Amino acid sequence: MNTLLLSAADPETPELAAEILRRGGLVAIPTETVYGLGADGLNPAAVAKIFEAKGRPGDNPLILHITGAEQLELYCHDIPPAAYTLAERFWPGPLTMVLPAKSCVPKRTTGGLSTVAMRCPRSLITRQIIGLTGSPIAAPSANLSGKPSTTTAQHVLHDHDGKIDAVVDGGPCSVGVESTIVDLTEERPRLLRPGGVTPEALLEVLGDLVIDKAVTAQIDRDAVVKAPGMKYRHYAPQEPVVIVSGSRERAAAYIRAHFVPGDRVLCFEEELPLYGGCNPLAYGREADVSTLSAGLFSALRILDDPAVHKVYARCPVGGGVAYAVQNRLKKAAAFHIIDPEVEP
Ligand code: TXA
Ligand code: MG
Repeated sequence: MNTLLLSAADPETPELAAEILRRGGLVAIPTETVYGLGADGLNPAAVAKIFEAKGRPGDNPLILHITGAEQLELYCHDIPPAAYTLAERFWPGPLTMVLPAKSCVPKRTTGGLSTVAMRCPRSLITRQIIGLTGSPIAAPSANLSGKPSTTTAQHVLHDHDGKIDAVVDGGPCSVGVESTIVDLTEERPRLLRPGGVTPEALLEVLGDLVIDKAVTAQIDRDAVVKAPGMKYRHYAPQEPVVIVSGSRERAAAYIRAHFVPGDRVLCFEEELPLYGGCNPLAYGREADVSTLSAGLFSALRILDDPAVHKVYARCPVGGGVAYAVQNRLKKAAAFHIIDPEVEP
């Protein structure tokens, strides 16, 4: 199959992409978070192709992308008022809400669950494509399953060239980590995955928020979890990643003492001078966390190289968007964190 690379600047792209989706094809779409691998979310045969292309376990449900809160009722029932409040505040944007699914949503899309994850992305062209398709677009992150997410059209081609119908190139994703997921199907709202909409901002609107244990710790493969995707190893390059916590100087002393040729250091731009001779790669500036979230997956992809032996990673501290960066890095590291104060 010849994978078409469609430019978001080409006025014909939305209709071309929608046409492919309407006939059951796969189109990778840009969003502000990461590129998604899209199919008509109401067409089980089309959705099955997503699982096949990604090598994704069938019990891992997909997010349905819609044009706005007015479409929620088409696919969900018993929608709590909080969903509309959140949509009003954060849509279009990097927030996904889990709600009870109507029967028109195929079990193939929900991974057999009775709930469905709903999101309205900020990208205008992607919302145009959804509108022209006349169906919600089911789209997971477009990476091969278990690999770092895709934040450019080139990342998508790297993983899927020749295997999907088209990629819409909307440039690099501005947020760079996947959307915040909040489950609204229980008595208390529950954060299933941190992202660009911060826990602090959610709490301000909702007045209450439970942090699911999958956010903060490694989950067993056979565990029963709220977000099935959380139990699979994620975002990970081929080689082991170890987070080194603590102050800039302490961490650098630890890493320099343990570094062997073939290792790499994933650090903040401000730290580059500390790692001469240690092959450092900066993913953004510690002083501006949005550059870290935007650069993280590109950096993890560069480090996904058989020549790399081990990756020592530096992780931002604190809440806000840093909380999402911590979550992705900890998952890439399978929660392996070294504190040089404790383990000199
Ligand atoms: O930013 C994003 O959310 C990107 C873009 C493309 O929109 N999409 C994305 O999809 O990250 P994916 O499939 O890579 O991650 C979706 C996560 C998975 O962990 C999945 O298990 C969870 O959402 N999920 C989907 N439906 C769910 C549901 N009904 N209940 C609980 N978790 C759900
Ligand atoms: Mg994903």
